[in-house]
Amino acid sequence: MNLEDHSASFKTINVDLGDRTYPIYIGQGLIERAGEMIRGKIPEADKIAVISTRVINDLHGYKLKKSLEEAEIDSLLVLVKDGEEAKSWSEAGNVTGELLEIGLDRQSAIIAFGGGTVGDLAGFVSSILLRGLALIQIPTTLLSQVDSSIGGKTAVNHPKGKNLIGSFYQPKLVISDPVLLETLPRKEFVSGLGEVVKYGVIADLELFERVENEYEKLIRQDQGILEYVVARCSRVKARMVSLDEQDRRGIRVALNYGHTVGHALEILTSLKISHGEAVAIGMEIAARISEKLGLMKKNDVERQSKALEQIGLEAQLPRVDLLNMIELMKRDKKATGKSINFVLPTGIGTPPVLKTVLERLIIETLENIE
Ligand SMILES: NC(=O)c1ccc[n+]([C@@H]2O[C@H](COP(=O)([O-])OP(=O)(O)OC[C@H]3O[C@@H](n4cnc5c(N)ncnc54)[C@H](O)[C@@H]3O)[C@@H](O)[C@H]2O)c1
Ligand SMILES: [Zn+2]
Repeated sequence: MNLEDHSASFKTINVDLGDRTYPIYIGQGLIERAGEMIRGKIPEADKIAVISTRVINDLHGYKLKKSLEEAEIDSLLVLVKDGEEAKSWSEAGNVTGELLEIGLDRQSAIIAFGGGTVGDLAGFVSSILLRGLALIQIPTTLLSQVDSSIGGKTAVNHPKGKNLIGSFYQPKLVISDPVLLETLPRKEFVSGLGEVVKYGVIADLELFERVENEYEKLIRQDQGILEYVVARCSRVKARMVSLDEQDRRGIRVALNYGHTVGHALEILTSLKISHGEAVAIGMEIAARISEKLGLMKKNDVERQSKALEQIGLEAQLPRVDLLNMIELMKRDKKATGKSINFVLPTGIGTPPVLKTVLERLIIETLENIE
């Protein structure tokens, strides 16, 4: 995996997976070169379906369409529901039907043009349609640029839980253009910053320090720092995915830092708090547990809290029933039997550890967070 400057205009990070290795291109205005980049990677793609939502297509679709036209690629638009509603079994059925209707064949490709929800649905559909069609991710939210577009996890939800139906299916390329984030609602942008801090803490001290020192630029969405942040986070995720593609070797699990508590809070508050807020609280709690277990220095715990606060993700626990929370955490996918496993940080920029934590210690930590 390498991070190199091709020219002043974009960066390439490879996700190393043998003959399925693929590039992530990151740069301002890259959407305008999407057609050319896709032609370069998938020359046989004669016809491409763009899966997106009305909101995203109205804002940015014309740029993608123009660039595909310039590359002489025939493109067809398929709109799906906005947000989490896109990730359903029935929506996957509707989309596959529409794609067959418009005559996609084995040479065709699919572009996922949207946030993580569009990416997860389009990825899933690509993996099953005609036994697998080439997939291109063009993420449009901060969360999808730094996280969900990379790594090949695809899914739709089931009434029994989120992401229960899906596959591992890697894209052929990812194109991340931070200019697309200019139209992102503030709350969505700040939510994505939670994942950025997560990457800093679990794997990248330099990234953490830049977020710490240049948070004002970051929250102003300065394009230079945004491009840097997307590239650094993508680099960390690419490395973890290439070492542990199917999340079985205990490496990719580090990306779940803050998510055990985070997921429980999202359920208990019926998604009234953003994913980033929930993860920020989760990271604060995990860090305090680490400190109590002698795994992380107090100073590092405080540095993390301050960085989160500076970007607008102050860890404030909403009013929830703590015992309900414990029950939900026991059902978390990392839970084995009745114990609760936590990804615990060991410092800033150092690999975390996965450990079973006693219920009593979790409750005590939750009670002390104001
Ligand atoms: N596959 C993975 O590895 C992985 C990892 C993390 C999260 N996820 C999944 O990602 C999903 C969340 O993704 P998300 O946070 O991107 O949410 P999202 O896709 O719901 O997008 C959030 C909102 O932003 C709007 N939007 C998107 N791009 C925009 C733009 N450029 N300008 C204006 N508005 C825009 C969307 O219309 C939507 O309303 C969850 O379903 C989660 O399970 C998957
Ligand atoms: Zn997350």
